[in-house]
Amino acid sequence: MQVITTKAEIRDAVRAWRSAGETVALTPTMGYLHAGHMALVERAKAEGDRVVTTIFVNPTQFGPNEDLSTYPRDAERDLAMLRDAGVDAVFMPEVAEVYAPGAQTIVETTELAKMLIGKLRPGHFRGVATVVTKLFNIVQPDTACFGEKDYQQLCVIRQMVRDLDIPVRIVGVPTVREGDGLAMSSRNVRLTPEDRAAAVVLSRALFQAEEMARTGITASRLRAWVAAHIQAEPRADLQSADIRDAQTLQSISGPLTAPAVILLAVRFGSVLLIDQRVVTP
Ligand code: PAF
Repeated sequence: MQVITTKAEIRDAVRAWRSAGETVALTPTMGYLHAGHMALVERAKAEGDRVVTTIFVNPTQFGPNEDLSTYPRDAERDLAMLRDAGVDAVFMPEVAEVYAPGAQTIVETTELAKMLIGKLRPGHFRGVATVVTKLFNIVQPDTACFGEKDYQQLCVIRQMVRDLDIPVRIVGVPTVREGDGLAMSSRNVRLTPEDRAAAVVLSRALFQAEEMARTGITASRLRAWVAAHIQAEPRADLQSADIRDAQTLQSISGPLTAPAVILLAVRFGSVLLIDQRVVTP
């Protein structure tokens, strides 16, 4: 496995594969890998001849009140996991390699970036869209795999690829869960044992709501039920519970007639957890 820190070197590696007629699948990550990331890698292996994983804790997607310096990191462990998984190259640049001083250009999905998580974390999706565009331009993959857990991020990336004619095929990979249903996330390690136990309320609410969606319930009643279920857990501080059209993320309130996505953002202490489930009527 090649471990590469410069744009020039990753471009050379990809160019060599391409000239041998091979395709490239990319899995962008911020490191501190878990089974959810490894599911992206497995999917990438099925999608391309070569797999590139990026490890880059992107400063521009963190807000002024979000502590970038405490984001968990363990490069050695990450590299061992990626090597074992058969990744061909890891691109792990320094911040200065990605963001040249004096840069002025940003990428923003104007509507999608403002709603839902975008309201809780202003500027977050601008940072994501900008860095993902840069990673696409640097690596030039045929395919890129992203987790469905970050559902709004996946919608933002699909929209941006459509709007800017970026020639990368986007593949959404289903959420990987712990044994009790909690969605895997690098943030889970920051939960206290009590909050970790209580956090199972998110997946329980989603799985039950999935059943209820098949009974002809309206979106607004389902949303109210999900919110009440989460609020009944004293440790959970519900930030948002939304039911949106699964494609456009537009609000829906009436009967469910097309696939919809339930999106949750819940704080446990200082840790913001998100989870989602696509439900079909
Ligand atoms: O999902 C993530 O880990 C990040 O938002 C991403 C897509 C790697 C961009 O920094």
